[in-house]
Amino acid sequence: MAENTSMLEVRNLEKRFSADGGKIVKAIDNVSFDIPKGTIFTLLGPSGCGKTTTLRSVAGLETPDSGEIVVSGRTVFSSAKNIRVPAAERGLGMMFQSYAVWPHMTVFENVAFPLTVPIRRGQYTKAQVEQEVGRTLDAVALGGFEGRHATQLSGGQQQRLALARALISRPPLLLLDEPLSNLDAKLREKMRFELKRLQADLGVTSIYVTHDQNEALGLSHQIAVMNQGQIVQVGSPRVIYEQPANRFVAEFVGTTNFVPAEVLGRDGERYMVETAFGKLSLATPRALNTGDKIVLSIRPEHVMVKAEAASGPNSWDATVKTNIFLGFHQDLEVMAGGLLLEARIHPSLDVPVGTPVSINIAPDRCIVCD
Ligand SMILES: Nc1ncnc2c1ncn2[C@@H]1O[C@H](COP(=O)(O)OP(=O)(O)O)[C@@H](O)[C@H]1O
Ligand SMILES: [Mg+2]
Repeated sequence: MAENTSMLEVRNLEKRFSADGGKIVKAIDNVSFDIPKGTIFTLLGPSGCGKTTTLRSVAGLETPDSGEIVVSGRTVFSSAKNIRVPAAERGLGMMFQSYAVWPHMTVFENVAFPLTVPIRRGQYTKAQVEQEVGRTLDAVALGGFEGRHATQLSGGQQQRLALARALISRPPLLLLDEPLSNLDAKLREKMRFELKRLQADLGVTSIYVTHDQNEALGLSHQIAVMNQGQIVQVGSPRVIYEQPANRFVAEFVGTTNFVPAEVLGRDGERYMVETAFGKLSLATPRALNTGDKIVLSIRPEHVMVKAEAASGPNSWDATVKTNIFLGFHQDLEVMAGGLLLEARIHPSLDVPVGTPVSINIAPDRCIVCD
């Protein structure tokens, strides 16, 4: 069953490198994941966590020490069965940050190149190559640019050209390693939309590697968060953001407040916990015991600020310590019971530094992460 719907299966992958001074680095430490056909799967994590090594292993550019890689039902790597299909025979599309477009070639020549390499020579007539190039350039909105030299394109157009080159041979699986990281912020946002549209139009399955949480949240069907060679959580963008499995994920994906708390006991369906700013009613699927010391993750957008005194449950008095006005919202630091919390509020609320306010936090917006 899974064999029919998976485009890529990675099982128990391991790769060690010997670093300077003979130290062994576990670049990939028992990594497994599954990518359903037609989806974008993102490896997200800080620099050095093993994203590129994982991608290069799938591509066949790196030989893992152990594990198994299956592309569309075909085993391309297996340490146990001693299978090692060379990169050129895996039929994958790749676009790496370091793979620039070829400046001495025209747009047409850049995109046509993968169809004319030795392994495919003779498979396409000249007319077919022209047709495929035209179709692919249209897909990335570069139709009509065939005769231009690659260097006459803007940064964003060059990025789309590199994407067209990766797509032209209609790979079942597209490998993208930080493809937008060379672009400025505005262009990066625009390309995010284009990639998403292109993915929907072409339905190509993709692994996307990035250290940028916004890119990951905005583009992916599934995100695997990596740390030190291991996958620490896999889930939809919403699950990764709203139900982080641990402190690392909560901190790496988005901004959050960590609030230490001690469990006082059950409170009906909820728990009552003690925090620096007072008693807090908490809704969590986790089983807690009286006396447990825990850490809550509370996102700034869930710290509700009102310019009036605290009243009712989960409401506490606080003072505005910092106010950063950003047009579409305001970022506040508020002091409550000796604890500094970040709050993200609507721009219309007039609460300058020093204003006495109250904060309110919904019981189900407090995530137990430690
Ligand atoms: N060829 C190599 N030789 C030695 N160490 C390497 C090599 N490639 C990667 N590493 C190490 O493996 C770890 C993971 O690297 P990498 O996969 O490039 O991480 P990421 O892409 O997440 O930044 C890092 O500690 C890196 O220094
Ligand atoms: Mg990398």
